[in-house]
Amino acid sequence: MRSLAIFVIAFLQLVLADPAPPGLAYLYTVNVTLGDAIDVGLGPKGTRIVIPITGGTFSGPKLSGNVLNVGADWGLADRNGTFSPDSRYQLQTDDGANIFIQTNGPLQPDNTTHLRVTFETGNADYYWVNNVLAVGILRSGTGYVVIDTWQLTTTA
Ligand SMILES: *[C@@H]1O[C@H](CO)[C@@H](O)[C@H](O)[C@H]1NC(C)=O
Ligand SMILES: *[C@@H]1O[C@H](CO)[C@@H](O)[C@H](O)[C@H]1NC(C)=O
Ligand SMILES: *[C@@H]1O[C@H](CO)[C@@H](O)[C@H](O)[C@H]1NC(C)=O
Repeated sequence: MRSLAIFVIAFLQLVLADPAPPGLAYLYTVNVTLGDAIDVGLGPKGTRIVIPITGGTFSGPKLSGNVLNVGADWGLADRNGTFSPDSRYQLQTDDGANIFIQTNGPLQPDNTTHLRVTFETGNADYYWVNNVLAVGILRSGTGYVVIDTWQLTTTA
């Protein structure tokens, strides 16, 4: 009887325990330099602000290079005033690969912005970035933002 009870308790602990959280592997930190904001105004979806992306640099264990002067953040402040960047720009690695990057996600109460980050490239050496699920934490400076970026990993 006692061993059955122990078995049942162990089984319930297994079933009721939260699953192990996934890991995060560091990808890179990027410093994106910004141009002057363009205020589109209050439209049907909220207040649209366009911020040109004019350059920058990024560096990490497997990805380093420059941000090209191509792209912008078409960010939206919703009716609660929560601002969410909606950016598209270009990374160019030190060895010449062009990576299209898109980010979006909401401003947090601590003034960081939590970003969903997706990559697209045809370059064979960096093809793996197409299949990465990445998140970023953005901190704003004056005329630039710094984004630390991680890749989701599976834990056993
Ligand atoms: C980001 O880049 C800008 C422009 O080059 C520079 O002024 C700023 O100090 C950089 N910020 C950080 C945290 O590296
Ligand atoms: C956002 O706005 C909705 C509708 O006006 C409101 O119900 C909600 O509480 C607001 N949330 C925050 C975080 O302000
Ligand atoms: C966030 O930034 C705003 C505007 O710069 C500032 O007023 C506020 O104190 C900041 N909040 C935190 C938690 O740092």
